[in-house]
Amino acid sequence: MTIFRTKSVEHSLEDTEAPEHRLRRRLSALDLTVFGVGVIVGTGIFVLTGEVAKETAGPAVALSFIVAGVVCGLAALCYAEFASAVPVAGSAYTFSYATVGEFPAWIVGWDLMLEMALGAAVVAVGWSGYFSELLTTMGIRLPEAVAGENAVFNVPAVVIVLILTWVLVAGIKLSARVNLIVVTIKVAVILLVVVAGLFFVSKANYTPFVPPAEATPKVGGLQAPLIQLLFGITPVSFGVFGVFAGAAIVFFAFIGFDVVATAAEETRDPQRDLPIGIIGSLVVCTVLYVAVSLVVVGMRPYDRLSTEAPLATAFREVGQPWLATIISIGALAGLTTVVMILMLGQSRVFFAMSRDNLLPRSLATVHPHYGTPYRITLIIGGVTALLAGLIPLSALAELVNIGTLFAFVLVSISVVILRRTRPDLPRSFRTPLVPVVPALAAVACLYLMVNLPVETWLRFFVWMLIGVVVYFAYGARHSRVAARETTRDATG
Ligand code: ALA
Repeated sequence: MTIFRTKSVEHSLEDTEAPEHRLRRRLSALDLTVFGVGVIVGTGIFVLTGEVAKETAGPAVALSFIVAGVVCGLAALCYAEFASAVPVAGSAYTFSYATVGEFPAWIVGWDLMLEMALGAAVVAVGWSGYFSELLTTMGIRLPEAVAGENAVFNVPAVVIVLILTWVLVAGIKLSARVNLIVVTIKVAVILLVVVAGLFFVSKANYTPFVPPAEATPKVGGLQAPLIQLLFGITPVSFGVFGVFAGAAIVFFAFIGFDVVATAAEETRDPQRDLPIGIIGSLVVCTVLYVAVSLVVVGMRPYDRLSTEAPLATAFREVGQPWLATIISIGALAGLTTVVMILMLGQSRVFFAMSRDNLLPRSLATVHPHYGTPYRITLIIGGVTALLAGLIPLSALAELVNIGTLFAFVLVSISVVILRRTRPDLPRSFRTPLVPVVPALAAVACLYLMVNLPVETWLRFFVWMLIGVVVYFAYGARHSRVAARETTRDATG
């Protein structure tokens, strides 16, 4: 038994054709781009902008967005090549299986749960926060025990997750349509912030643009970025370090362009459309983010921005409460699609893993009428709802980042490996300047990772360790690729 056996690209593609595991091909390049924007624009821009400006980077949060956007751009170039060469549901998991082998692929699949299932739960809690805020403006106050960060059981978060689970089971085309409407609202609101906000920008708020670094004992210990601990640097906020530490946090805002790759088997012309969807959605979002963050830090002094609803609050504070309400509604709509598509991506990764027997195969059965992997979707919906309902998750958002960055590192390395092992594969999109761009992508992602707090690293290791145990207890014994190899050896 070798845990580094790979699954050939041909086998991966062949598996997508089995009738009981076939997904319907309905999505176009535009659907995918909308999909991308639907999952990318969320908590990151609607919430973290204020937090990072106030506590980590000052007005230079716009630079943090640029840094994170560039890192994601490098990774996106790698994802685009892979998605065009191996258009199979499962994204980074499938790519790793084709290159570095089964065990690393399992690890990536396990890791992606941090990005998607945990990410969905984190955003659902954010959704619940905006929902309660809107109800409050209408004079309805939900008891603290059932809504908000400190809820014993966060009812709105659970309800939204369950409703979205139903939408996902009912079929992807319906999801794409719901998504289009919501994304339109969300982008309109973001543009409204930029255009209306410009009227309230005061130049004075931009100086100093990069506030001088200051020592912050409160971010010491386990909360200090790993890089500061490694090099024995006194924990600082602001300054150049602050821009990079801020980038590691606002990275959350970019998560999602890679989720586009999980829709590979539902795309009509994946070789052409996936690279457009991945890179297109990332470019659109980066432009929106830089514009919004520049406007928001121009509207209010950075140290007075809200850390919960910075966009809406900035408008309320400049005397435009009705704009603030519109923004809250847009944020609510926006967060809805983020939760939905993260769960969708998670179901497609599990789908690919169970089709390979690394998870029980019966889970990958597609619904005879809806054509969706309904069993997996229901399980993920249930687990996400529980997570969102029970755990105060804002503290875990950085765990989502580290999980995603880790997958980016592996995908960047895998692109180079696949060029060597399978130079013959048709690639309708080729990452430029291989191996320079993938190497830069991997190093840049690692750099953002070491800018995350020590406690995030510890949680990450514990999660991965659990994954290793599960693999050896189940996946390694049931693997379909292993069974194929055994049959081949016996007959050959
Ligand atoms: N990028 C997504 C968000 O900002 C996860 O909410």
